[in-house]
Amino acid sequence: MRVLVTGGAGFIGANFVEHAVAQGAEVTVLDLLTYAASPDALAALPQVRLVVGDVADAAVVEPLVAEHDVVVHFAAESHNDNSLRDPGPFIRTNLVGTFTLLEAVRRTGARLHHVSTDEVYGDLALDDPARFTEDSPYRPSSPYSASKAGSDHLVRAWGRSFGVRATLSNCSNNYGPWQHVEKFIPRQITNLLDGGRPKVYGTGAQVRDWIHVADHSAAVWTILERGVPGETYLIGADGERTNLDIVRTLLRLLGRDAEDYDLVADRPGHDQRYAIDSTKLRRELGWTPRFADVEAGLADVIAWYRGHEDWWRPVKAGTEAAYAARGQA
Ligand code: NAD
Ligand code: DAU
Repeated sequence: MRVLVTGGAGFIGANFVEHAVAQGAEVTVLDLLTYAASPDALAALPQVRLVVGDVADAAVVEPLVAEHDVVVHFAAESHNDNSLRDPGPFIRTNLVGTFTLLEAVRRTGARLHHVSTDEVYGDLALDDPARFTEDSPYRPSSPYSASKAGSDHLVRAWGRSFGVRATLSNCSNNYGPWQHVEKFIPRQITNLLDGGRPKVYGTGAQVRDWIHVADHSAAVWTILERGVPGETYLIGADGERTNLDIVRTLLRLLGRDAEDYDLVADRPGHDQRYAIDSTKLRRELGWTPRFADVEAGLADVIAWYRGHEDWWRPVKAGTEAAYAARGQA
């Protein structure tokens, strides 16, 4: 199988590329190598071809798609806080980029898998026991989640109107190696490794549903193998934790006092709770997560960041300066 992976130099995309190669796929990565990319994550896979280019550029995308049987679309601007500061790149990459890919697969007949997020469903109240399902209404809150919601709508419309063979998945919060230090867990781990304190938005009562990135990759591969075009699958591993729970776990794992964190300015429009019901993916396609224990996963990730300081150190100070400018440091 010849697979084109957009955003394959990013946090999740690179993990998926490793998974796909291990499954015997011939992989090409299309990635613009923005600030969020980690080409180092592909260094151990010399058989993977890397094309540096913009998913919103039809002149790059069309010929490349024509050479592949399957396209797996990860490329996106992915950080909510950045979308609040400057939404423009989110509209271009997440909406125009998805449109550009759809036009290309429409012409070539390649199969598409579109990688999306649980944030398209908005948030749940902290005291609401419900979880998101494939039938939950779309209610995105931020420019990032609205752009992802729009991209999902485009994929479904191209399926119905033009017969594009596409599957979609909406996954919960990922953690694991190679995640940029702007994101919650790597930011707190690297603060702690530097002897500093975790920075918690608002009260820290918000809930995220954590999944190890390797489980996300395996789920996407399962959908490629057994998913039905036109269908959507929610991906989650029953990993709900408050942000304060996560911070206190990291503090404990690093031998620090459980209250040794700072509350900082909240994120405007901060979504309260995400929670995924992944019954459809488990029952219909037989997927199950392998990393059920978030605490054990976090211990591994701490060790990984300790061992990869040469990778994150060059961008840490600049990332923290951007947070400081917003009163979040
Ligand atoms: P990331 O920000 O780490 O990586 C994004 C990658 O896309 C980078 O390598 C970047 O260079 C590339 N890219 C950005 N703009 C591009 C463009 N115009 N053309 C080509 N490449 C471009 O993101 P991530 O966390 O790995 O997320 C990957 C996908 O998974 C996104 O679509 C995101 O919405 C989705 N997702 C993420 C999570 C999560 O917890 N991180 C959860 C669910 C879904
Ligand atoms: O749910 C899936 C989504 O998860 C993906 O679609 C996004 O691409 C991904 O970035 C992530 O979005 P979140 O906004 O949930 O992730 P983030 O890591 O930015 O923040 C997680 C939680 O931690 C959120 O409640 C905000 C909070 N937070 C974040 C940072 C960076 C803090 O309390 N302090 C921080 O310093």
